[in-house]
Amino acid sequence: MIPHNRLQFSEKDKQALLAVVDSGFYTMGAVTAAFEQYCQSYYGYSYAVAVSSGSMALRLALIAAGVQTGDSVIVPAYSCSALSNVVMSLGAVVVPVDIQSKTPNIDAIAAIRLAKQHGVKVVIAVNTFGQPADIKSMQDAGLVVIEDCSHGFHADAEFNPVICGDLMIQSFYATKLFGAAELGLVLTNDPEQHVLLLNCRSGYSERPLATCLNVKPDEFNTALALSKLKQAPEQLRIRQKKAQLYLQSEWLKQRHYGDNHHNVWYRFVIRCVRAEQLITLLQLQFGLVKPVSPWLDDLSLYPCAELAYKEHVSIPLYPDLLPHEQQTIVRLLTETPKELWSGDNG
Ligand SMILES: Cc1ncc(COP(=O)(O)O)c(C=O)c1O
Repeated sequence: MIPHNRLQFSEKDKQALLAVVDSGFYTMGAVTAAFEQYCQSYYGYSYAVAVSSGSMALRLALIAAGVQTGDSVIVPAYSCSALSNVVMSLGAVVVPVDIQSKTPNIDAIAAIRLAKQHGVKVVIAVNTFGQPADIKSMQDAGLVVIEDCSHGFHADAEFNPVICGDLMIQSFYATKLFGAAELGLVLTNDPEQHVLLLNCRSGYSERPLATCLNVKPDEFNTALALSKLKQAPEQLRIRQKKAQLYLQSEWLKQRHYGDNHHNVWYRFVIRCVRAEQLITLLQLQFGLVKPVSPWLDDLSLYPCAELAYKEHVSIPLYPDLLPHEQQTIVRLLTETPKELWSGDNG
């Protein structure tokens, strides 16, 4: 059985963790400072703040963007429920926006229109599955964009990140693009936001403050994430090669969902009319999953997201997936009954 995801820890990762054990310093030490410094230069932002999870990174980014109780925040209707949970944790209102019909990303034009109607200033945009979202159009329309890079980011041909969100956040949860265990990151270019982020993560304030919770990271997670970031260009190159191998199959290329030409590949997602049946049929041979779970009551208002929740299936894609495993996956998929894909009853 080929798993959907396989966690990978290199010798360098293990050494980084052992160095923390030997240091005897497990929180807010030299490694966290080194991680933040590395992130500033790697991602090209002036300030980096590490926190305990991606959700807490989002929460702090929303606070830094000025979101307060009663404000509205735009969130893609096809996204992890963590996004809306975090918005609600601040007493703010979630305004879902549909995704584009041809990519898994937020429909920027719909977001701009809705923002004008409801007086919304802040939007969370995810580069879903690693495919770059249209951040610029929303910024040009005056929106503050929190770019969620947990799945990936726009990268140049050398795999250097090209990120333009007003604030950037990333989850380093175990199964994410650069997985540690539990860790989040917020990036900004604004010195005042930086001070606010540092104060909010500390958990200590002169007066009681609901925005100030202890969300500090630990040294093990920052050490692991730093080690993985240093290996990022090579890991991203391998992921892209694996995706290209899948795309060499014309059959799979036709069923791949979204853009084929981006550089960062977190997931390889295909569309299948009978997704549940496909998952059940092949589950003993290899892992297939629905990559995102629905959280909205009435999905009919968001037809592209509704279709994505129904038909998207993610197949294995990770750096140590072996060539013969990929060949098996392609062969087994192409041998599946036609009616799973056409919706006919045969
Ligand atoms: C795109 C995205 N952003 C943020 C999060 C939240 O990250 P974490 O699980 O580290 O809190 C998730 C969670 O899966 C996610 O998918």
